[in-house]
Amino acid sequence: MDLNQVYRNTVLSVANNKTVQDIVKQRAWSVAKRFVAGEERQTAIAAVKDMEKVGVHGILDLLGEFVDTEAKANEFADEIIRLLDAAEGQGFPIYVAIKLSSVGQKITLANGENLGMVNARRILKRAKELNAFVALDMEDHPLVDLTLEQFRTLVGEFGNQTVGTVLQAYLYRTEQDRASLDDLKPNLRIVKGAYLEPESVAYPNKRDVDLQYRRLVYQHLKAGNYCCVATHDESIIEDVKRFVQMNKIPYSQFEFQMLYGIRRDLQVQLAKEGYTVRAYIPYGSDWYAYFSRRIAERPANVMFVLRGMLRG
Ligand code: FDA
Repeated sequence: MDLNQVYRNTVLSVANNKTVQDIVKQRAWSVAKRFVAGEERQTAIAAVKDMEKVGVHGILDLLGEFVDTEAKANEFADEIIRLLDAAEGQGFPIYVAIKLSSVGQKITLANGENLGMVNARRILKRAKELNAFVALDMEDHPLVDLTLEQFRTLVGEFGNQTVGTVLQAYLYRTEQDRASLDDLKPNLRIVKGAYLEPESVAYPNKRDVDLQYRRLVYQHLKAGNYCCVATHDESIIEDVKRFVQMNKIPYSQFEFQMLYGIRRDLQVQLAKEGYTVRAYIPYGSDWYAYFSRRIAERPANVMFVLRGMLRG
């Protein structure tokens, strides 16, 4: 395992500790604001409008994961529908990301239906009416099979212009997963992967993850599919630019995606160069898990958090 991975695993393990959670939740909002647009829907919409001014589109993301009651999952889905409605007519393409676990993926209803699917259908129905796009985020590895199976069903019902999903380059299985979805002509976001995963399922070395990342993007583009290249890794971005040029892949077949608060300079530069760029804009009060994954991605971020917390 390389040092990057050791750092990441350590931060993610410490972040799961209840005492650490309580302290950070109380004291780190001033720091978390760098990565989270705000707590309210309207603040997130304002952040999208702000990005639009510099040519970057937004992906609205209501924070929250592993919702464990039917009422909370339904309320979460209702809020996403309210978000879609609030974004309508605001002058930007409506694009949201959801985690199926936050709308009830782990809950089976008395009639045997999966609550995540019931709520996903409600959201996608409204999204389709509004010509909006919904990306199903990918969570940790025990949820991958179910998420891909549900994605397949939802593409069948709503089409690949309304729903897409995410594949993670750190999982050994992902090349096969990508190929197995080709018949759907899916809109896929390729990411490196942000969760704490064991060596039994994920590459322990960053180099292997980066290699698989490139392979996945190239294969997906070569297969003629739409690809969201979601990374801040400049060497990968440069390689993708070269690849599309050499293979005559039109700019309309891919886009770059990055996270709010990270490499805004690069986002704006790529947009100026004529590429489609979208920034993931998270909002909501349940920011802790998202925030800890961002801290785990970069050693310098721990000092940033500690300094921010000491300032209070
Ligand atoms: P890498 O980690 O190698 O970083 C490359 C460079 O980017 C760093 O050197 C640094 O300059 C900068 N950088 C990266 N992270 C930073 C940070 N936190 N703070 C400051 N600088 C940073 N994951 C997942 O498992 N499921 C998902 O659904 C998604 N969804 C998603 C959507 C979008 C739009 C993006 C951009 C990312 C995700 N991810 C994700 C997260 C992804 O898996 C990954 O953890 C991050 O993108 C960081 O990896 P990079 O590809 O940027 O490379």
